[in-house]
Amino acid sequence: SLPDKVRVVEVGPRDGLQNESVSVPVDVRVGLIEALADAGLSSIEVGSFVSPRWVPQMAGTAEVLSALRPRPGVAYSVLVPNLKGLDEALAAGAREIAVFGAASESFSRRNINCSIEESLDRFAPVAEGALSAGLKVRGYVSCVLDCPYEGPVAPEAALRVAERLLAMGCYEISLGDTVGTGTPVRARRLVETIAERVPVERIALHFHDTYGQALANLLACLELGVSVVDSAVAGLGGCPYARGAAGNVATEDLLSMLHGMGIETGVDIGAVVEVARAISRHLGREPASKVSRAMAVT
Ligand code: HMG
Ligand code: MG
Repeated sequence: SLPDKVRVVEVGPRDGLQNESVSVPVDVRVGLIEALADAGLSSIEVGSFVSPRWVPQMAGTAEVLSALRPRPGVAYSVLVPNLKGLDEALAAGAREIAVFGAASESFSRRNINCSIEESLDRFAPVAEGALSAGLKVRGYVSCVLDCPYEGPVAPEAALRVAERLLAMGCYEISLGDTVGTGTPVRARRLVETIAERVPVERIALHFHDTYGQALANLLACLELGVSVVDSAVAGLGGCPYARGAAGNVATEDLLSMLHGMGIETGVDIGAVVEVARAISRHLGREPASKVSRAMAVT
């Protein structure tokens, strides 16, 4: 049955901005994140400690992290692919990191330049180091439904990676429909498979909205009791290693659906729409979300 409350994980400052053709300056990134926290978002992914040659848009994440005012009850997280990234995250004062694996071999190679097995071998000491320094560690599995290079992915392949990440001490496993080709029945079947071995409270949904199915897919999975959803303000983004993929489901579209069903989030949708407009203005375009467009008409 549907949860009473959903924790929304705002990934726009990372997943959104990593895919913009222009790099957004550190002060604008910091302003965006502070405004999202002001709107009531309590989990915000603020950047990545990855190679600036691979993802130049996330250069400056250390500066972003150190410029953020610590707020009780708000967690700022960063992506970390290896021990070098962990060192930089620790030096910048990170309190939470995320490691990111994939359920498909080809995506793993293109995204992080190693096989799935090698990636898990790399993540284990990263998770261990982070946990022993008192950080929280989140785990991603990309391409849980389809891979841009290999096509359909078996739910069991996603489960194998999810279980390994859980065993490393990840408090939550975020299931990425990286290309946004999922539909509700497949999304539900995936979560049913994952929930056989991963407690449902530890599952998060990270759905890109390329084909406009993300909200439908989310609802199908929320009905199974999942209560954590990743989203990006203004529907920003895509994925640099999944050509043609659109951004995550827009935060304001997600909030509209959840609040309309009486599900609490603690987030002010009007404030999020303002943030969506501001960052979209900076990027020189309209917000991708239906709700931002609808609420602009007065
Ligand atoms: P590599 O080339 O195999 O790494 O890249 P390497 O260890 O051989 O090192 C090569 C160079 O990179 C060296 O520099 C290292 O110092 C440097 P050089 O000596 O040549 O000057 N390097 C680093 N620099 C900064 N930070 C680091 C780091 N590590 C090595 N952490 C690597 C491997 C993982 C680094 C690379 O492939 C990479 O950065 N990939 C980018 C991955 C990425 O950010 N992808 C997008 C995020 S994932 C995503 O969007 C999906 C998600 O949203 C879920 C979903 O939607 O499904 C999470
Ligand atoms: Mg993503």
